[in-house]
Amino acid sequence: MSYITDKAREPRRAAEGYITVPGQTLEEIVAANPARRKVLRGGLSLSLLSVFGSTSLLAACGGDDDPAPAPAPAPGPTPTQPLDYSIGFNPVADKVTADTVTLPENYSYEVLFSAGDPVEIGSVGYSGSFQSSAETERQAGGNHDGMHFFEIPGVDPQKGGLLAINHEAMDSAILFPGSYNEATATAEQKRLALSSVGVSIIEIEFVDGKWRVKRDSRYNKRYTGNTIYKVGGPAASAIGGSVVGTLNNCSSGNTPWGTYLTCEETTDNYLDQSNPEEGYGWVVEIDPLNQLGAPTKRTAMGRFDHENTAFMTDANNRVAFYMGDDGTPGCIYKFIPSNAFDPNNRAANANLLDQGTLYVAKFNGDGTGQWIELTHGKNGLVTGASDPGNYTQSTTPPAPTIVDFNSQADVLIKTKAAARVAGGTLMDRPEWITVALDKTVYCTLTNNGSRRVTDPANPRATNPHGHIIRWKEQGDSPLATTFTWEIFLLAGDPSLSAENLKGNIVGDTFSSPDGIRVDPKGRLWVQTDAGTGASTTDIFGANSMHYVDQQTRECKRFLVGPHGCEITGIAYTPDLTTFFINIQHPNGAWPSASLPARSSTIVVRHKDGKPIGA
Ligand code: FEO
Ligand code: CA
Ligand code: CA
Repeated sequence: MSYITDKAREPRRAAEGYITVPGQTLEEIVAANPARRKVLRGGLSLSLLSVFGSTSLLAACGGDDDPAPAPAPAPGPTPTQPLDYSIGFNPVADKVTADTVTLPENYSYEVLFSAGDPVEIGSVGYSGSFQSSAETERQAGGNHDGMHFFEIPGVDPQKGGLLAINHEAMDSAILFPGSYNEATATAEQKRLALSSVGVSIIEIEFVDGKWRVKRDSRYNKRYTGNTIYKVGGPAASAIGGSVVGTLNNCSSGNTPWGTYLTCEETTDNYLDQSNPEEGYGWVVEIDPLNQLGAPTKRTAMGRFDHENTAFMTDANNRVAFYMGDDGTPGCIYKFIPSNAFDPNNRAANANLLDQGTLYVAKFNGDGTGQWIELTHGKNGLVTGASDPGNYTQSTTPPAPTIVDFNSQADVLIKTKAAARVAGGTLMDRPEWITVALDKTVYCTLTNNGSRRVTDPANPRATNPHGHIIRWKEQGDSPLATTFTWEIFLLAGDPSLSAENLKGNIVGDTFSSPDGIRVDPKGRLWVQTDAGTGASTTDIFGANSMHYVDQQTRECKRFLVGPHGCEITGIAYTPDLTTFFINIQHPNGAWPSASLPARSSTIVVRHKDGKPIGA
């Protein structure tokens, strides 16, 4: 979740009494609610209670974060000499706050795709004037977030492919004058706002040493808050066969059969509240090749503030999808489809995500853990269940509430409550999850400044800088129901005085890890969504992207973003010589001094064409 989202959702949350931290910095929290200054200042002095896990869980390589057997692409050209994927860059200096993208020496970037750029054939794009929703519906949305590169059959994937790009929120400065107010917005303003969220699919090509959008591609397509989506899975019986709109498309994932999973990080339509809230908070499956039918909300995967998905497969083509709930607090989930996928027949997997079992993670104090099944009739998920609420956020436990789970549809629509009833561990805002080559699973826990009750997996009362947890499934199996875990690192900076702010990062420090991805060569990358006020940037610099060594845990700063932005989205060509990165909600004079600041996808390359990281 970004602070843009927090602000947009504020009226709805206030009406619901929802407990959260609006924004990440003390300045942003206080700006949102001045009465909280005192409690936050007091909370920040609480000390770190414990640090768990000192032994690396790493074993020999053998898995893959991204083993997707691509849908019959043409083989790429054989490299004339093997590429070197070792990490050799000199990290970017400390505390950079320049209003540009800062990279190590020998690297450069270009802006590929900004909010308002043309997407569908015939769209003209934003060039400085406000447009109608009929136009904005066909051009790039705002707040670019999760992203994935897909191969196109018959196209050399080092020179062309599809980017599927999430739009978490609107870049409102290019849509209409002033700010958006759902309560007073006209129908056209609602269509404008909803056109600016969702997903862009764009074909890109590498021509004369540069990546560019292929403007006349038949694959170029928008999925927006105004598009109609099918509903699949057990909750379709309760919410109907279709829903208008997807929104708050935060991060995302892919499937082994080459589809895109865009994640809705909201459980209501705060841009148009005339739509029933049960229609939102789902994972939506989109086929970027447009072969497998309509985009579909996959209700079997649960309803919560979805961040991203990451999958693990086994030798029998069984698959598990890991998912975080970016709630304050939220749980970590796993969904196992009932059937194996067919690696040789895309169409056979078209509705695989509609049947399966959803689990929530319980992290025990001894370093073990369980996946607890969220199935109606099991683990307390019955009529008249007692929901303990978000008991981690106050030293005075909230009064339990009674929740009726009369069917699996009820369990899925009320997944957050079901997870608490079943005993899932309430975590410090799970953001992205990634599966390493050795099948270690990593999850960023971005921060939880309002945590008051700790547990071993969330050991800091008030946790403004966040941490990263990792686990290994029993037998390295995606079907396992038990695992072992440890805290990989605690974010923070040793210069900070309070113990709970120092963290234990080796090397270049950061706050609020959010994006995380192990690339296909096994290198771990972390992106940050920390506050952009001086109290944070004076310590850490602006938001950044780091390489992190999975054994030594050393962090090396690779990229720093321009003013006001969050760094998110990691995609790459198969040879990793091009990285695509998203710069979300910049607010200075980047990328152009003549137009409002716009969220943008950038292309990062080494000057000699070496793999990123060299
Ligand atoms: Fe949209 Fe959870 O970050
Ligand atoms: Ca975030
Ligand atoms: Ca995020």
